[in-house]
Amino acid sequence: MSQIVYVNGDFVPAAEAKVSVFDRGFLMADAVYEVTSVIGGKIIDFDGHATRLQRSMSELEMVSPVTMDELLQIHRDIIEKNNLVEGGIYLQITRGAPDVRDFAWPDPEEVPCGIVLFTFDKPLVDSKVMDEGIKVISIADERWGRRDIKTTQLLYPSFAKMQAKKKGCQDAWLVEDGFVTEGTANNAYIVKNGTIITRQLGNDILHGITRAAILRFALEAQMKVEERPFTIAEAQEADEAFVTSATGFAQPVIEIDGAQIGTGIPGDISKRLREIYTEEMIKAAI
Ligand code: PDD
Repeated sequence: MSQIVYVNGDFVPAAEAKVSVFDRGFLMADAVYEVTSVIGGKIIDFDGHATRLQRSMSELEMVSPVTMDELLQIHRDIIEKNNLVEGGIYLQITRGAPDVRDFAWPDPEEVPCGIVLFTFDKPLVDSKVMDEGIKVISIADERWGRRDIKTTQLLYPSFAKMQAKKKGCQDAWLVEDGFVTEGTANNAYIVKNGTIITRQLGNDILHGITRAAILRFALEAQMKVEERPFTIAEAQEADEAFVTSATGFAQPVIEIDGAQIGTGIPGDISKRLREIYTEEMIKAAI
């Protein structure tokens, strides 16, 4: 069966889907996106992703082409049309396709925002990476300053990930003014003497939907949480490290810039958080 995607109101086979060459998402990365995971054919934390999407759009003065109820229905329809059981849904809203390329934004009444969704299969619950953990490098954070807005300007994170791959690692932690901001596509954490440490929210990191859930579950499980910046040196001395994202849940980090973290195997706290997250999110999936 060929993949069915959603483009501006229609479900069509991927090979027939078309987006204008004038689309500002294509020309200027003038677009916001969300990636939501699916387990057992059900959506994980739709409300969290829909709320962040609305915030991203409002920060950029975009007018949503759909209501959030319509968006939920589109998510459900695309899952069904692709028989998606486990994996994710990619959603992108762009500022549309004006006739003329202009740095100024077009009037939203004249040029409506465009919307695209597609699904992908990915094992989320049982994953080899979780058992083994990932190795990361550090690299300067050279992204723009509004990382709290989930835009499709992903060239720098993509560049950073390639630097990691060249060094035999799976990801990069971005560092600004001496402190870790986040991973290329995830939020970063360390654990020291039982306390979970992660950077506080601000414009300099994405407000991860998984981060919010993980911190809530950690507090409910009586774990200690500190929201503050940390350095790579502090991370290398930590007992555990891990990252969170919608499609990675909580993934252990076992090496940073060549230094082994803790015993070099995924730590107990990150494993426990992953278990709680998986269990709770499956229960709450819609
Ligand atoms: N990335 N930080 C960045 C820079 C991200 O791109 C992401 C998500 C996160 C984690 O956010 P969440 O828990 O809401 O997924 C943090 C997605 C998965 C991606 O780009 O594929």
